Amino acid sequence: MTQNSKLQNLDKRRESAHLGGGEKRVDAQHKRGKLTARERLLRFLDDGSFNELDTFVTHRSSDLGLDKQRFEGDAVVTGYGLVNGRKVFVYAQDFTVLGGSLSHVAAEKISKVMDHAMRNGAPIIGINDSGGARIQEGIDSLAGYGEIFKRNTLASGVIPQITIIAGPAAGGAVYSPALTDFIYMVEGIGQMYITGPDVVKAVTGEDVSHEDLGGALAHSSRSGVAHFTVESEEACFSHVRSLLSYLPANNAESAPSIEPTDPPERVDSSLRSVVPDEANQPYDVMDVITKVVDNGEFLAVHHNFAPNIVVGLARLDGQSIGVVANQANQMAGMLDIDAADKAARFVRFCDAFNIPLVTFVDVPGFMPGTHQEYGGLIRHGAKLLYAYVEATVPKIAVVLRKAYGGAYIVMSSKELRSDVNLAWPGAEIAVMGPEGAINVIGRKEIANAEDTEAKRTEMVANYRNQFANPYIAANRGYIDDVIDPEETRPQLVKALRMLDSKVDNLPPKKHGNIPL
Ligand code: HXC
Repeated sequence: MTQNSKLQNLDKRRESAHLGGGEKRVDAQHKRGKLTARERLLRFLDDGSFNELDTFVTHRSSDLGLDKQRFEGDAVVTGYGLVNGRKVFVYAQDFTVLGGSLSHVAAEKISKVMDHAMRNGAPIIGINDSGGARIQEGIDSLAGYGEIFKRNTLASGVIPQITIIAGPAAGGAVYSPALTDFIYMVEGIGQMYITGPDVVKAVTGEDVSHEDLGGALAHSSRSGVAHFTVESEEACFSHVRSLLSYLPANNAESAPSIEPTDPPERVDSSLRSVVPDEANQPYDVMDVITKVVDNGEFLAVHHNFAPNIVVGLARLDGQSIGVVANQANQMAGMLDIDAADKAARFVRFCDAFNIPLVTFVDVPGFMPGTHQEYGGLIRHGAKLLYAYVEATVPKIAVVLRKAYGGAYIVMSSKELRSDVNLAWPGAEIAVMGPEGAINVIGRKEIANAEDTEAKRTEMVANYRNQFANPYIAANRGYIDDVIDPEETRPQLVKALRMLDSKVDNLPPKKHGNIPL
């Protein structure tokens, strides 16, 4: 072979590999409303930055006709590239090759880029579109999944791991995504479930569609499995690129800090009137968050799940921060099972990746009821306590209004190793709300009074005057300062700067035993 024909051979092979399962299947992929694996990676990464690995890998099986279905690259495209100039590792399952099913070599390819990502300390982003285990390969395929799950677990808390579900993800295949930090689902094409509608029907008699069982809406709002639901693949890629801009490449790096474009000393007098005077009136805590953080930009995580708590990423003085905030306009901001899970997971993510935490507190308590108690509210609420105590990143909290009882303690209180705790003048920090407290301690006095309602009103008012304020907590140093709401941003910036050299540790241990 001459040098020229060798090069022609290389080009031909590469071209054939780039066609995946062939033109017919590529057309079918497009008809399903989906991009191909390579189209996805090229659109996700910075222009011209994608470097493919293992283009010529083929499966080594010949069972059940597989010897006649050998495609270069097999059912996954892997490699590395740049996002906003920063290195990332990627894989995208190729549905045009045997339905993107996971062969042993596909698992080896994914494992190889995961190993690179770990050794080089860079995020890994996987695009899933697969019929699951390659049925013809049997146990070899299952072992391949095991190799990936092992790497997902070992990489957890070391490098950010992000999964995009842009096709089917069924059976045990869902567990690699579930082990990653963030799951995106593309609406209309992404579906995840352990057992599909047919099995559901056979076992439980329930009739349910693929979409209702495991579509983007189901997982972003009901199960909480997905953190983000996005209307198209293009929108998804742009969202992931934005998310990555808040994250360090690995746990040994500080969270990104950019040149601030919003004055740190900016005050906002409208913050004085965001929270209504009446204790039971709702308001949108997003108004507080967006008025305080840089340029009002906030990337909400788990936006549709447990809306009674808001979590997400923002910048303050250019520094990436994680925000946790009770949402007063949803269930009065009460903490329930899902809210505790959502916030605990986010706090742990931020702590693992050195992202300081800012918590806005307005919480009347935990959600009462048998549904919550039987569901294990105690166990789930404990996760949030655990997460805040364990977190060694800078922690700042601002009590906007209510902070009652156990819920006060949970929401980044001083006692949970929070660094700076501030309160607005209208804050109510006490063991119980006035009505609840008087129902317990004033029961006899009210019963013996001539006018029981007048007595109750008087006692509630006295309690409110005496206890429903921030000054008792401030007297004792549980609150470091009571601040004018309009100064929240400059106060937070000062605290964040003060804490930029914080060093804190946990006692040596193999690992703790978070109440799962
Ligand atoms: C081998 C597969 C495959 C699989 C699909 N294909 N899934 N080949 N192994 N698991 C092939 C099909 O034969 C077909 O090949 C091509 O991929 C496209 O599939 P279609 O069925 O034509 O596509 P569509 O109608 O869009 O349906 C997609 C699908 C369906 C819903 C994913 O293919 C499906 O139900 N597949 C099986 C899903 C499944 O049960 N997987 C095993 C789960 S158990 P041709 O040649 O016709 O184009 C599992 C365990 C993991 O994954 C455990 C981990 C611990």
